[in-house]
Amino acid sequence: MTSTSDLIARTSGSLERPRRLTVVGCGYLGSVHAAAMAVVGHDVVGFDVDADKIARLAKNDPPFYEPGLDELLEAALATGRLRFTSSYDEAAEHGEVHFLCVGTPQRADSNAADTSYVESAVEGLGPLLDRPCLVVGKSTVPVGLAEQVRDRLAEIAPAGAGVRLAWSPEFTREGFAVQDALEPDRVVVGVDRQEDADELGEVLAPVLALGMPYVVVDLATAQLVKNAANAFLATKISFINAMAELCEATGADVVALADAIGHDARIGRRFLQAGLGFGGGCLPKDLRGFMARAEELGVDQALAFLREVDDINLRRRRRAVDMTTELLGGTVEGARVAVLGAAFKPDSDDIRDSPALDVATTLHELGAQVRVTDPKALDNARRSRPGPDYVDDVREAVRDADVVLHLTEWKAFRALDPVELGDLVAHKRILDGRNVLDAAAYAAAGWQVRALGRPNAGR
Ligand code: UGA
Repeated sequence: MTSTSDLIARTSGSLERPRRLTVVGCGYLGSVHAAAMAVVGHDVVGFDVDADKIARLAKNDPPFYEPGLDELLEAALATGRLRFTSSYDEAAEHGEVHFLCVGTPQRADSNAADTSYVESAVEGLGPLLDRPCLVVGKSTVPVGLAEQVRDRLAEIAPAGAGVRLAWSPEFTREGFAVQDALEPDRVVVGVDRQEDADELGEVLAPVLALGMPYVVVDLATAQLVKNAANAFLATKISFINAMAELCEATGADVVALADAIGHDARIGRRFLQAGLGFGGGCLPKDLRGFMARAEELGVDQALAFLREVDDINLRRRRRAVDMTTELLGGTVEGARVAVLGAAFKPDSDDIRDSPALDVATTLHELGAQVRVTDPKALDNARRSRPGPDYVDDVREAVRDADVVLHLTEWKAFRALDPVELGDLVAHKRILDGRNVLDAAAYAAAGWQVRALGRPNAGR
């Protein structure tokens, strides 16, 4: 991973014509994008309806954990070219180019995406756009929404057809968001007219100068590219987790299998990490939103396989609970269970649809005494999933445990010494839900080891 300072050094100072940009929505995506654009030389206003969020961003106290974001924000704020507001008037007045970075979570009443934040951003900003400008959507949306946004803006903006729309989906990964903002592996933009892609290309010139492809497509394709990318990644993970089920039934080893098929460049080893499966604020809801949209379009059969992808993924969580029960000799009730990991993945404090927390909560509901630890996600976990105990210190979490579950693969957990850990627990039993621990070292230290998709792990 390239360091934040190196990324800043490589992308600053080369901008020919700085623009006045606004970034509407300062969550995981927007805050990083706003800071990145200021660092490369633009004059940026970040907008969010949440006044507390922007107050914290303005003093470089981000409301969430993202490696490198503090350094990026500090550099951006130091330029004097980044400020925050919760006034649509100020945002509209400022921007020559407006980026829409609001969230599109799953709707509470269905699998479809909730696009209300996009709609309210359009309704808030649109009537104030009285000069020609470019609006660039970055949110993940059901295909067809961009065209609706374009038409609605033309209708409600005083500048009318002078307000142009492009859609440039982001492929930012939490934990790597700074790198993905300043050096993404590609930039995709959907436009009606090449001039709009050229304009966005000028805005992003310092980033594009690092040499990644700039892919210009139509609006529908741009929206679908994002849906397809996340659906493919989810499918890849569920494919290897389906193989894990086969491995469990046959005595085979899914890690060795993934290594072996991964040598084939057509397949590749990345995103073939078998384990508890995918969670987070993106893959699960994007998968479901994509299926819901396909149904509306009358092509639900084309994505019927994604239902299976979702099911395989959720089955892994149940399997982890079953394996824990087996390790405990058949009874969960009253058992002391230590859970390492609450975040949906390492280097994040995001607990949205976290597989680790799902397993922890299920075991708690089954009557276990569950103690969860995580380097960054405990506050979020406590707030959203009361029930288990949440403790800061790993040693405290595992003390007197009857079983230890490794469910989010933070570096700090991987570095734990099985001998030292063994002295703290009541019973040396461990489930590796992410297949990254050294099973042989744990077994050598006297642990009974189980791992998803590796029936002979440590033996
Ligand atoms: C995902 C995509 O990777 C990004 O490209 C995309 O921009 C983003 O969603 C989004 O739509 O905004 P993210 O949610 O940050 O990014 O997380 P991933 O790195 O994709 O991991 C998702 C989940 O899959 C995690 O729970 C992770 O533990 C799990 N995973 C990942 C596996 O179980 N196995 C793997 O091999 C890889």
